[in-house]
Amino acid sequence: MPTNRTFTMIKPDAVIDGFTGPIIQQIEEAGYRIVAIKKVHLTPEEAGKFYEVHKERPFYGELCEYMSSNPIIPMILEKENAVADFRELIGATDPAKAAEGTIRKRFARSLSSNAIHGSDSDENAAIEGAFFFPNGN
Ligand code: PPS
Repeated sequence: MPTNRTFTMIKPDAVIDGFTGPIIQQIEEAGYRIVAIKKVHLTPEEAGKFYEVHKERPFYGELCEYMSSNPIIPMILEKENAVADFRELIGATDPAKAAEGTIRKRFARSLSSNAIHGSDSDENAAIEGAFFFPNGN
């Protein structure tokens, strides 16, 4: 299988709770190479643009407020089968339903503060990565 890329963000709750290091360690131990990484504090408008696809959903306002409340750590990651394997590594959206050992099970606070994002397709990984890293890496 060819090497490809996914996009992730360590979310405000996990950054505040001091889990940036352990989360990156788990990602690297799972075989991912960090292609690009930075720390950024989104404005509510930027968060709204990133999550525009969810704008009709009832939690959209809360999600954008939360994602702009404190800094996040966006990253582009590279590995074979990057997108699907990463969704498995982070676990279910709701940490209460996430499998033991997954990043959300270990580090997330709740459904609305769930520690980490993972792209759901190769196409979205490219779009989301370009949102934060317009020059690629
Ligand atoms: S997913 O991971 O995209 O398949 O999950 P989905 O259920 O479609 O959720 C999309 C993003 O919205 C977040 N989310 C919520 N935020 C606040 N409150 C509630 N109730 C809620 N439910 C879902 C979820 O974490 C997803 O964010 P990202 O950044 O994509 O992981």
